Amino acid sequence: MALHIEKISKSKISSVDFNNLKFGQIFTDHMFECDYENGAWQTPKIRPYQPIAFDPSAKVFHYGQAVFEGMKAYKDDNNDVWLFRPDQNQERINKSAERLDMPAFPKEYFFEGLTELLKLDKDWVQKGEGNSLYIRPFVIATENCVSASASTNYKFMIICSPVQAYYAGEVRVEIADKYSRSANGGVGYAKAAGNYAASFYPAKLAAQKGYQQVLWTDASTHELLEEAGTMNVFFRVNDTLLTAPTSERILDGVTRKSIIQFAEDKGIKVEVRPVKVAEIVEAAKKGELLEMFGAGTAAVISPILGFAHKGEKFELPKVENSYASFIKKSITDIQRNLAEDKFGWRYKIQ
Ligand code: COI
Repeated sequence: MALHIEKISKSKISSVDFNNLKFGQIFTDHMFECDYENGAWQTPKIRPYQPIAFDPSAKVFHYGQAVFEGMKAYKDDNNDVWLFRPDQNQERINKSAERLDMPAFPKEYFFEGLTELLKLDKDWVQKGEGNSLYIRPFVIATENCVSASASTNYKFMIICSPVQAYYAGEVRVEIADKYSRSANGGVGYAKAAGNYAASFYPAKLAAQKGYQQVLWTDASTHELLEEAGTMNVFFRVNDTLLTAPTSERILDGVTRKSIIQFAEDKGIKVEVRPVKVAEIVEAAKKGELLEMFGAGTAAVISPILGFAHKGEKFELPKVENSYASFIKKSITDIQRNLAEDKFGWRYKIQ
């Protein structure tokens, strides 16, 4: 594969305060891009990170034909850079693309682009607990035409942002009983840009009531708990972890599946099955709901301290040796090359 590389003349890294990063605001020196034209992906390029110009009629602006991924790179004490299960993201972006009638991006382009980009921007991957480089692959519809049909042209890109924690403060959630993020036959399982856009208004209404995220329920009955904000969600009732099965409504999260595999391997009982609002409310009332946490690439594991349902408020107890902190520490140790990689999840950039 021919990959054109144009390097920056001077890095902007010295202007970055790596100890005070807000999530996703600073980007590295280079970006990867590849255009789809005349029915084929063209020669991929790495260029200095910069704004890109589009015709105002580009379809992505009008119909939101766009999908994305979220990944992270970590640096260990030997200055080696590692990805976590990148094959999962590569496969998922093409599943998302298929649902939005977009062409699949070739696996070898994905991995070569990602590898070369990370080699060039290696200094942006900071060592140490809590530091990582958030990687954002995405595909947008670039045909200049406002007819409502799939674009003929696309742009695939990868941009990278040094990050620390995703949530700065405590997280409490409101259980959705009016709005939905997905429905049967919809695009909930895809990482479609519009899924996130559609969640902002309900999230704002929840925030006005003091909840940092919405705990999404199924669209038809609002009786099943499905996701939390932009994350999958887990509940610990006594010593059992519960999480909803993936479906056409639920994202097949990489962190989610890693938690399930890790917890089961550690002998923690995990039930992957529909989780009812009523059973979680009941468990909370009995003091048996010990933990709730969101799971996603950006936040890894984000403990949820309380929730509201139809105006009723619940606070979770403070537990010693929480599953959330144990699993988060164990998985981030694997990601950072500090622990044995029993499941073969790490991928070295070389
Ligand atoms: C993730 O946690 O993986 C996400 O996709 C979050 C992102 C929307 C910032």
